[in-house]
Amino acid sequence: MGKRFYITTAIDYVNGAPHLGHAYEKVLADVIARARRSMGEDVFFLTGLDEHGQKVQQAAQAEGKDSQTYCDGLALQWQELTRVLGLSNDDFVRTTQARHREVVQAVLSRLHAEGHFYKEAYDGWYSVKEETFLTDKDRNPDGTWDARWGNVVQLQEANWYFRMGRHQQWLLEYIEANPAFVQPESRRNEILGFLRSEKLGDLCISRPRARLGWGIPLPFDPDYVSYVWFDALLNYYSVPAAAGDPAAQIPPATDSKTTGSALAAWPADVHLLGKDIVKFHAVYWPIMLHALGAPLPKTILAHGWWQKDGQKMSKTTGNVVDPFSVITEWGLDAFRYYVVRELAIGPDGNWTDDSFKSRYNAELANGLGNLLNRSVNMLNKYRDGVVPAASRELAADAEAAARETADKLAGNDLQDALVAIWSLVNRANLYVEQTKPFSLAKDPAQAARLDEVLYNLVESCRVLAVLLWPFIPGTSEKIFAQLNLPGTPGDWRLATWGGLQPGHKVGAPIPLFPRKDLVKK
Ligand code: MSP
Repeated sequence: MGKRFYITTAIDYVNGAPHLGHAYEKVLADVIARARRSMGEDVFFLTGLDEHGQKVQQAAQAEGKDSQTYCDGLALQWQELTRVLGLSNDDFVRTTQARHREVVQAVLSRLHAEGHFYKEAYDGWYSVKEETFLTDKDRNPDGTWDARWGNVVQLQEANWYFRMGRHQQWLLEYIEANPAFVQPESRRNEILGFLRSEKLGDLCISRPRARLGWGIPLPFDPDYVSYVWFDALLNYYSVPAAAGDPAAQIPPATDSKTTGSALAAWPADVHLLGKDIVKFHAVYWPIMLHALGAPLPKTILAHGWWQKDGQKMSKTTGNVVDPFSVITEWGLDAFRYYVVRELAIGPDGNWTDDSFKSRYNAELANGLGNLLNRSVNMLNKYRDGVVPAASRELAADAEAAARETADKLAGNDLQDALVAIWSLVNRANLYVEQTKPFSLAKDPAQAARLDEVLYNLVESCRVLAVLLWPFIPGTSEKIFAQLNLPGTPGDWRLATWGGLQPGHKVGAPIPLFPRKDLVKK
């Protein structure tokens, strides 16, 4: 078996409640994973949790729990999120798992043995909140520390450093030569700008165990644990490595043979993550892999951040969108549809309840839902639910929409893929207005014309189910069920016109998206 298409999300900090931002990223990754699967690729989709660090240790202590018990409790909530979002992830990594810890330690040992680390005493500033060392460059112009650093203290301590700076020129040339490595273009330019204008320092990769016990011990100096980012980034590699991936062995296997059951995923095809952590992924991570002699991921794909009503989401002010409650009220697919349709991967977005409701009513209820409902309804009413002879009046529209959707999906342009799909929804709804099947039904002389119209409508719905599967799989499966079709709509080859066979009997119409503005509260 060949290498699988490997997509990851950032691993979320375990000590926070899942919100819209986390859910958004997971849905995007799921759409990409499902689209690839539908198109016949073998996919490995990984998501998970980042569990080490000072904040977790402190929060656990505050609750009087040991850190592992504390993480285990929260992990249940995060795993529930993957279920509620309908994610098709193949694995769920937690950085406290032995499979991860062992690979991190093996990587640390190897880099240490090859002279990539050194120990040095430090005397300077430290942000407790961000668990990071600061230099005078991080100060505000007036010499004060920005509020985002929280309490900044003076610290004297010896630590281990990774010789990251020496790879700056290599990384700059690599990113210049590989335009697809950091996407979108605006983020790529930011990273290039940074690498061209600033000197990349070495990276502190340890914290003394006496100060921070909740981390992975350095195998060559057990008085220290690994800095959280060094640990966290390696999750993408440790999962395939632990599953025997020949491209992720430490040291890399010289005679790489894929054994029967080993996972063949590395290097990742897409690391999906938010704009705030691009530097870790596009600078630290490739340098770590380069030092290790491991192949680099193909693409770091950065999405923007959501605000709510034009403001930063914040638990303290209550200004948050809770994906669990939106999904309970409106259904999973309404949530999945809105976040992908509203915001392209790249820019920042703004959630407003009004815009959510208006897309729900116009595009889902009146657009897609109404199209399916009236198509299936009329076929039942006028032809006892039996599909008439095939007709190709909307075939070119459906095929153009399928081609356009596939093109957009190939470029991870998920928003425009939905626009392409809705061109067919709108075309088919317009076709109803133009052909007026309810009038044709009154005139027996128009029976053949009515057959044509009905075929084009239900066949458009069938094609739409296939195109929609990566985005709103539950709805797509409901469409297949109402058309009484066997199997899954998750196979792109079914998006060609003419799949519905004359004589096939469809099921009963059931509304896909009940109109909420008509429901009395
Ligand atoms: N644990 C690190 C990532 C390590 S990856 C090796 C982390 N965790 S996080 O929980 O803070 O964020 C997880 C992801 O959610 C990040 O990609 C982040 O950008 C994303 N988002 C967090 N808030 C967001 C919004 N308001 N909007 C969109 N995405 C946001 O960083």
